[in-house]
This record gives sequence, C-alpha cells and structure tokens, in this order.
Amino acid sequence: MDINMLSRRDFLNFSAATIALTCLPNQIQSNQLIRNYKLTAAITPHLFDTKGVSDNLWLYNKETPGPIIEAKENDIIRVEFVNNLHEATTIHWHGIKNINKMDGVPYLTQDPVQPGETYIYEFPVKNAGTFWYHAHVETWKQISKGLYGPLVVKNEVDDQFDNDIVILADDWRLNKKYQIDEKSFGSLHDWSHAGRIGNWLTINGKKFPKYSINKNGHTRLRFINASNARILSFGSSLDGMKIISIDGMSVEPFIEDKFNLGPGQRVDLLIKTDGLSTIDFFEVSGKKPLSAFKLNINQISKKNIIKKDINLPSIKKIPDFKNPKILKIHMQGGAMGNLAKAYFEGVEKNFRSLAMEDKKFWAFNKEVGKYEHSLASVKKGQIIILEVWNDSRWPHSMHLHGNHFYVQSKEFSNNDKLVLRDTYLMQPGEKSKFIYLADNPGKWLFHCHMLEHAASGMIGYIEVL
Ligand code: C2O
Ligand code: CU
Repeated sequence: MDINMLSRRDFLNFSAATIALTCLPNQIQSNQLIRNYKLTAAITPHLFDTKGVSDNLWLYNKETPGPIIEAKENDIIRVEFVNNLHEATTIHWHGIKNINKMDGVPYLTQDPVQPGETYIYEFPVKNAGTFWYHAHVETWKQISKGLYGPLVVKNEVDDQFDNDIVILADDWRLNKKYQIDEKSFGSLHDWSHAGRIGNWLTINGKKFPKYSINKNGHTRLRFINASNARILSFGSSLDGMKIISIDGMSVEPFIEDKFNLGPGQRVDLLIKTDGLSTIDFFEVSGKKPLSAFKLNINQISKKNIIKKDINLPSIKKIPDFKNPKILKIHMQGGAMGNLAKAYFEGVEKNFRSLAMEDKKFWAFNKEVGKYEHSLASVKKGQIIILEVWNDSRWPHSMHLHGNHFYVQSKEFSNNDKLVLRDTYLMQPGEKSKFIYLADNPGKWLFHCHMLEHAASGMIGYIEVL
C-alpha cells in the first residue's frame, strides 16, 4: 500500500481510536475493571538443567519468565511492585500506549525504585494484543538476569481460540557452572558489535517445552523475544505459519515459512490443528537449530467451539499526513563503522576516546545518547515522520516507547509490507520512515533494543508537548 494514498476518513478513525487514551487514570470509569497484581523482584536460584543450579538470577515472583499479567481491553492494570534487590530498578510496559508517568523510564518519567521500596504502577490498556514488561535500569544487566514477563490484553476475538499460549524466548549467557556469566557483563566487544549473544535458549524458561493443545481446534501462539541482543528466527514442521498480529497489532493474516523476531518484538500465529498430531517449532537463525518447543495435539476441546474460521478484527489504517513533522535520525557507530567524532554530554570527542573513556560506541545525529538526551520536541496532534537511517554495519531493533508507528517493513518475504509496530528490525544501511500521530503527551524514549547498544549511546527521547 502506498502510504501517500490514504483518506481523511482513515485518519479520523485512527485519531478517534487513540485520543481517548490521554484522560486516564484520573477519570477511571465506573465500569472499568481493575486488575490487581503484585510483583516482587528478588535474587532467585533457578535450575536451568539437571546439572547445576544458578543462584544469580534476578526474577519477578521467583519465576522465569515473570508471571503473566492479563487484562481485557479497557481494563486498568494496577501493579504493586516491591524491589527486594540490592539495586534500584523500574518496570517498563513494552508496547503499551501508556500514560507517560507510568512508562517506567528512570530519570525521565520516574525516580528509580530503591531497594526495599514499593511503587504502584496503574494504567489503562486500550488495545488487545501481546506485550511484555521488563526492568528499565541498566537493562543490559537486569533483563539478562531475568527481570521480564509477558503482558497479554484480550478481547472477544480471543474467546474464539481453544488454546492461547505465550512463547517467551530468551537467549541466556551461562558459564560452565550454569550461572549467569557475570564476568562478561560490560564486554567492550559485545557493546561495539552485535550485543550480548547467549548460549542457552529457553522458551518460557525451559529448554524444549511441550504443550498440549486441542484436536481440531484453533491455537494462538504469542511469540516474544526477551533476548538482550539475539535476533531469533522461528521455523516449524508446518507448511506455513499464519501471522495474525505483530507487536500487539492485528494484521491482515499472511503466511511465512519462517519469521525473524528482533529483541523486543512480538508475533502472534494462528494455528489450525485439524488432522495433525504434533507440531515442532525450531529456532533456525544459526547453522544448527538452537532449540524451541513442541505442541502435542491430544486434548479434546472442552469449549465446544463451533469449528469455523476465527473472525479476526479489522485492521487499523495509516493516518493521512498533511504537514507532517519530519525528524531525521542518522544512526552511526559500532565496530567497522564511520563515526569519527560525536558529542557526549556536550563535549566533542573522537571515537577512540568515547570508547575508552566513556564506553560509548553509538550515536544519533552525531550525539551519544542517554535517558535524559532530548532528540526532539513536537506538538501534540502533529503527524511525525521519523526518517531513520541505519548507517552502521549492524542490524538494530529500534523501539519507540508509548506509540506504535507505521513502517514499510522489509522484515517479511513480501519485502514492502505496511505494518504498525513499536519495534522495527533495521538491516545495515537501511533507511526507513516511522510514521505516527503524536497524540500522547510526555517524554517517549526511542532506542535500540539490543540492550548493549542502548547503554552505549543509541538512545534518546522525543517529547510531545
Ligand atoms: Cu522494551 Cu525501552 O524498552
Ligand atoms: Cu542496536
């Protein structure tokens, strides 16, 4: 679809659906359900393998992944968060079009939650879809130690599925004793190259889990990539996999033999189990499959669902963009890159001193970022076109907080597919446009979700006034 050929009506539909978000939670409507959760972060031992217990994971509620947070569209999620770690932390609700002060970004939207403190997060969820939550202080360490979990918002469409399973993948880096490899935290090589790549892939915390699902049914699988840096790629024993949702937004269903999932991204599949007895899924990014999971199709449906096709929701259309505000983001840096000099905290330095003195390797528009680094200020109601240019030798998984954006995606086999995402996997050299309506006031982080890249400069915020 040509993004220039959209009607005024599409735009109005788009804004009506999104503008309602800004008035909560001060005006909680009486019919809104509050979903109460309690999350406690603490050091927790974990058995990755029968051969050895790791005792240096940091988990929510002693589980990996953290407990699933579930709500229905238009509910309020309320989380009482207790920090029992010995370091400060926050929680970010990845993909939720949040109220800015609930977004969980330290220094920018809240003070870090100190050890022993309790903090209340409370926000409405307006869009059904697959999301996740994770720590947002020193993410390269806190996420790699296990501080994350799935967040799923449902609507009536989801009542039609016989089975609904989260597939949260993580690529841990363990040492020989099955401990999180802490010695390699902060490795200059990882930070300037592809990020921290692990050696132990889990699905929902396990090596090769098996799930039982219904015969002659419909299953929804919700893939989430919680890895620090590894781009996962999933294939299966099916003839093709039907993608129905991307980053929590419904899409016109399409079939792929395999699909990539950059750090932070989500993809939902619809699987019809008619006539099958098992389905295997593999992680196929490398020469040999890492691992994945199995579906055993052996349950008899209890739900008594009439076996017709699932009715999927209608798809959001791109807004008309008269007088858009264009923001250019030139991404540079990393090993074998072309970043000769950049500014960090107001001082211009060459690449070598940035690396050696500040451990910074990446920049937007020749400025090395951090949480409090402003990229731009825009007025509420403006259509924004982020013109992003990955002028480096590495792929980057670019995430915008608090907004989904339209992008002509080169991520699927149809190489020019208009999708609505919150995290877009960009290839080296790629130029793309992220288009969105800036209707949500506040300071919204924009960063690479390869967490070592964000920590070493590929980060900043866009303020909507
Ligand atoms: Cu999952 Cu700042 O993001
Ligand atoms: Cu990156």
